[in-house]
Amino acid sequence: MDIQQVVQKYVDSKWLGAAQMIEQLQLKEPVSSTDVLNVLNDIAIAQENYLAVNRQLRLKKDARLRWPDARIEDYDFSCETKEVQYLIDKACDASWVDENTHQVIIGASGTGKTTMACAIGNKLIMKGYKIRMWRYNDLAFEFALHEKEGTFQKYLRMLCKYRVLIIDDWVLFSLSNKQRQMLYELIERREQVGSLIITSQYGFDEWHTAIGEPTIADAVLDRIASMSDVIALRGDSKRKSHRAKGGKS
Ligand SMILES: Nc1ncnc2c1ncn2[C@@H]1O[C@H](COP(=O)(O)OP(=O)(O)O)[C@@H](O)[C@H]1O
Ligand SMILES: [Mg+2]
Repeated sequence: MDIQQVVQKYVDSKWLGAAQMIEQLQLKEPVSSTDVLNVLNDIAIAQENYLAVNRQLRLKKDARLRWPDARIEDYDFSCETKEVQYLIDKACDASWVDENTHQVIIGASGTGKTTMACAIGNKLIMKGYKIRMWRYNDLAFEFALHEKEGTFQKYLRMLCKYRVLIIDDWVLFSLSNKQRQMLYELIERREQVGSLIITSQYGFDEWHTAIGEPTIADAVLDRIASMSDVIALRGDSKRKSHRAKGGKS
């Protein structure tokens, strides 16, 4: 490590005044002591860490996770198949986000879909990704509101700024024609530029009926199904066992 590398850390942390001062001092009297260099470097590292923690806190607040404290490590997946366990590990690694592909978590009510989406979301936040969670129904409600106010395109642009959108309880509720078109527009706009984590009680073969309109259902399915890993959770509702263990309902 030399003084230029330390100065660069100050610049990267946007401590430009401090970086300038070190460079000026360097011109007058070059730092020769390793102790001084180490102290300057420790200060730079402390600032880097401070910025990283603050960024994570901001990302976490913005993500609006349903269960903000959900962590994969806190749950037991021994009842899941080896394939599902492999897919969960894969989902926790962010490479699928860099490839703009998706995760579809399916299973009956209570199998842990929402929890898992939040836990994967937390992993992504730790890696610095900007994510946001919506319930499908709330998203549809927002669509209708923005359509009424003529701000849908602006809303769409805002949604496209998120690297990953988590949509919980996908296709659980029926949409109006307009809302369906808006949903399609969102999926189409984000194609190959963003990822989705979808949780649903419905598998791909049921989306047609659930979405309701065949042409739009085809277009949505075509953009998601071929680009997704499907994590199919099984077993009984974990709500019962969670309550039996004294957890909140
Ligand atoms: N793998 C798991 N092991 C034990 N309990 C779990 C697990 N996943 C979720 N839970 C608990 O089960 C309950 C239901 O989970 P949730 O994610 O809401 O299910 P779903 O979205 O599929 O209806 C929650 O209280 C959650 O804390
Ligand atoms: Mg749920």
